[in-house]
Amino acid sequence: MLPPWHFLLLLVVAVRAIDYDLDDPESIKAACKSIAHQMLTHYTGMNPGDNPGNLPDPYYWWEAGAMFNALIEYWFTTGDTTWNNITTQGITWQAGPSGSFMPANQTRTEGNDDQGFWAFAAMSAAERNFPNPTDPDTPGWLAMAQAVFNTQAARWDPETCGGGLRWQIFTWNNGYNYKNTISNGCFFNLAARLAKYTGNQTYADWATKVWDWTREVGFMTDDYRFWDGADDRNGCVDFNHIEWTYNTGVYLMGAATMYNFTESPDWKEHTQGIINASSVFFEDDVMYERACEPIDTCEVDQRSFKGYLARWMAATTQMAPFTFDQVMPKLRASAKAAAQTCTGGAGQAACGLEWTSRKWDGMDDVGIQLAALEVMQSTLIPRVDPPVTHDTGGTSQGNPGGGDPSPPPPPVPEGLRIEIDTADRAGAGILTAVMSFVLIGSTGWMVYE
Ligand SMILES: *[C@@H]1O[C@H](CO)[C@@H](O)[C@H](O)[C@H]1NC(C)=O
Ligand SMILES: *[C@@H]1O[C@H](CO)[C@@H](O)[C@H](O)[C@H]1NC(C)=O
Ligand SMILES: *[C@@H]1O[C@H](CO)[C@@H](O)[C@H](O)[C@H]1NC(C)=O
Ligand SMILES: *[C@@H]1O[C@H](CO)[C@@H](O)[C@H](O)[C@H]1NC(C)=O
Ligand SMILES: *[C@@H]1O[C@H](CO)[C@@H](O)[C@H](O)[C@H]1NC(C)=O
Repeated sequence: MLPPWHFLLLLVVAVRAIDYDLDDPESIKAACKSIAHQMLTHYTGMNPGDNPGNLPDPYYWWEAGAMFNALIEYWFTTGDTTWNNITTQGITWQAGPSGSFMPANQTRTEGNDDQGFWAFAAMSAAERNFPNPTDPDTPGWLAMAQAVFNTQAARWDPETCGGGLRWQIFTWNNGYNYKNTISNGCFFNLAARLAKYTGNQTYADWATKVWDWTREVGFMTDDYRFWDGADDRNGCVDFNHIEWTYNTGVYLMGAATMYNFTESPDWKEHTQGIINASSVFFEDDVMYERACEPIDTCEVDQRSFKGYLARWMAATTQMAPFTFDQVMPKLRASAKAAAQTCTGGAGQAACGLEWTSRKWDGMDDVGIQLAALEVMQSTLIPRVDPPVTHDTGGTSQGNPGGGDPSPPPPPVPEGLRIEIDTADRAGAGILTAVMSFVLIGSTGWMVYE
């Protein structure tokens, strides 16, 4: 029989967090490997007979694209090739022969933002010189990003709100009438990166056009805060004022990339402005999803969002090195706090949602792991090379005319209007948003839920 002090010792051992020493790259790499491994316990797409590039319920299709993007950054920052082949398999399978990430199984409910997150995986693969697909019939990573760009440019819609992309691609989806920040932010970010990679000014012109529109319509405020979007049927005037980390992140990296491409003081100021405004998502330099964490309502998709802000802040330090000293302390403090939440599961590698609490919450969730992985590997960014371009060693095959800009719509039974659960898509939920809002008395912030 154990004397009581042994029990205490066991308890101490049981809550020991994963080893993560910010000043020891080997410890960071080992920790990231455990976190990634735990994330991938949910993924079975590589098994024979399974569906490459899909996560099981409750995870939506887009999140798998985000996950493979995280694994590309994982490989690039750590040098570990363990998951490269499942990454290639998942991305090429979902990209399809045209490369535009519009697989028939998904298009019924596919949003521009969903497609955008897959395009980011392909774009990162090009920028990081991730091993190219070997199958000659598979489009290159760059060609995939260009294919998505082409399909989205063709959807730009000046009929309402002076322009912008709608959230949903097809008319029968409820979100078709919602123009949202993340869809346009994804398009902006992608266009900026394509400009940088290829040097083609057409992409930069589009990035500027999307940025200007975002500001004119009011989804971005004069002080660089981002609302979620608005219904286009009354001209995008009633904003859904919810603020998410990923909207700030997606515009931040796009602005930094435009600064790098143009070296213009305007883009420098925009980059700085977004960094300034991003402070609303930090508490003592530790990132938090303020729209849902304090009230405990973060849904499946939303649990991953902090990871994208972390990924894009890290990328911003490479595209706009003047931001380095401002950004790194936040990434380091957030990564350290995130690591402290990783005490769950067999390998103490299941992490918690709320980094500010520094405690595991009993969850084992792909989005939570993905976010922890992104922020924890982001602290390796000073040790790795900046993105390559076509002129600096990039080897990805492009196709500027790729992608079918008007693919045949997927079959939908006559008269059916699909009721999608908007709260659970890559875009945040306008439907739930208009039903209720919660005023958080202690902070005075209005949070739609
Ligand atoms: C990936 O590589 C591992 C180790 O070489 C192998 O066991 C696995 O079957 C490969 N998976 C795919 C999807 O190619
Ligand atoms: C679409 O679904 C079918 C049936 O489940 C599956 O065999 C196929 O691999 C899926 N396609 C994609 C691109 O996921
Ligand atoms: C630049 O990009 C545009 C838009 O995709 C394309 O039409 C054009 O062919 C590209 N130019 C070159 C030189 O690749
Ligand atoms: C960012 O914040 C700093 C410090 O408060 C301020 O001096 C600067 O003008 C701000 N820049 C922008 C673009 O908002
Ligand atoms: C653009 O990015 C490169 C690579 O990180 C960097 O060396 C260069 O200083 C950046 N340009 C500007 C204007 O910051």
